Amino acid sequence: MIPRRAAGAALAGALALALAGCGLLPSTSSVEAVDFDEPLAIPPLAESRIEDGVRVFDLAAEEGRTSFSGLPATATRGYDGGFLGPTLRAARGERIAVRVSNELTDETTVHWHGMHLPAAMDGGPHQPIAPGETWEASWTIDQPAATLWYHPHPHGETENQVHAGLAGLFLLDDEESLAAELPSEYGADDVPVVIQDRDLDVETGELRVDGLDGGGGEVGLLGGTIMTNGVVGAFHRVSSDRVRLRLLNGSTARVYDLGFADREVDLVATDGGLLPEPVRTGSVRLSPGERAEIVVGMRPGERAMLRSTPPDLGRIAAGFAAGENDGFDVLELRADDDLRSLPEPSWDAPERRPLDEAAASAHREFELEGRRINGREMDMTRIDETVSAGATEIWTVRNGEMSPHNFHVHDVQFEVLSIDGDPPPAELAGRKDTIYLEAFRAYRLIMRFDGEADPDAPYMYHCHLLQHEDEGLMGQFVVVEPGSSAVEGGPGEHDGHG
Ligand code: C2O
Ligand code: CU
Repeated sequence: MIPRRAAGAALAGALALALAGCGLLPSTSSVEAVDFDEPLAIPPLAESRIEDGVRVFDLAAEEGRTSFSGLPATATRGYDGGFLGPTLRAARGERIAVRVSNELTDETTVHWHGMHLPAAMDGGPHQPIAPGETWEASWTIDQPAATLWYHPHPHGETENQVHAGLAGLFLLDDEESLAAELPSEYGADDVPVVIQDRDLDVETGELRVDGLDGGGGEVGLLGGTIMTNGVVGAFHRVSSDRVRLRLLNGSTARVYDLGFADREVDLVATDGGLLPEPVRTGSVRLSPGERAEIVVGMRPGERAMLRSTPPDLGRIAAGFAAGENDGFDVLELRADDDLRSLPEPSWDAPERRPLDEAAASAHREFELEGRRINGREMDMTRIDETVSAGATEIWTVRNGEMSPHNFHVHDVQFEVLSIDGDPPPAELAGRKDTIYLEAFRAYRLIMRFDGEADPDAPYMYHCHLLQHEDEGLMGQFVVVEPGSSAVEGGPGEHDGHG
């Protein structure tokens, strides 16, 4: 840890504490230093079977108890287990079905974040699963290889449910990704890393929830305990000279800036899959919901620490309360004395059909402020935008205040055309479904809605800071046959909601 940063974080912590003491601010946690001596847990690959040509998975949302850091067990939730869930994996072109049973005490949904699929299968707030019930989602994988994830999305309860442990990865493969020169042995040199922060009581082992439901201040809960795949202070043994980390920011609010103090890494993929080419970089900023795949070079016998340095949150008020000064270690890589040699990352540039600006048939603008998008809070019964099936559209998105927000669009992977008129940096040159919004900057995004029309079932767009989303920073769009409109009265009249 660089002393200057540590001092900065301590200072910010002290300042926050002082302000909290005056009742000006809720308390914020700075991150605790821990020993990295627990092996990284690797989420198991979910089992599946083929029924009538369909790859079928079962997934159960369950109540559980989990012990963190060897402390007494605390109440958690997970899929097929006590915390987090198995990794689902499927290939482009496959027809799949996931049968989700809800064994929780309350209603849930399961959303396939980053997936291009029919709206009725999306698992957003309009596809609730009551306790004791099973919901089947079924679709054909129709997008490039990528690291996606799944998590609950019941309106108003997403933060609580994700925080309790409900989340998992969903990996997609395709011909390009399988032929790519990239480490690809799951759990060995191709490592899933779900990064989350929690407020862990280091005496009782309890996950404190006071920071949820608005108790964590403007941005939500920022925990002082960092976990990777549910393990606090994890290390991973590496037996090759290159290792691929599939990083997911699975936190409810915290933004990370992930890298190593002593080496650069190759950023090879972002939310929607492989970049046009590897990007050499020192670190990658990841806001909640975003993913990045990096390839890290390793030397025999060494240890390398993945860490998060204070993230650049853009122009922001009270940045220390949003984690702007927090720097901490995340995951240690421990190299064997003999390392298998792997080639430099490379792949046939995915068939690049950049979306054509000239083809855009609609241009929409979205401004985020407080808990409103374009002045309106989320309303389950109101359709905010109606999109024609097949349309290419440009969405200009702006964060209108000095508070951290990001923007996620369901169903599509977009490309960033420009930020304040300038071309995006190399790390934003690929397909994205979630993007951090620095205050007052205009992000021009292009996307194509080439799925099925369904005027009855809306998709969501929203801030992925889960407290913001729960409190209304979300809107709904439907995809309809060109020339038709959304169902009168909105979706609320059709599914018993509202
Ligand atoms: Cu990751 Cu609308 O969600
Ligand atoms: Cu937000």
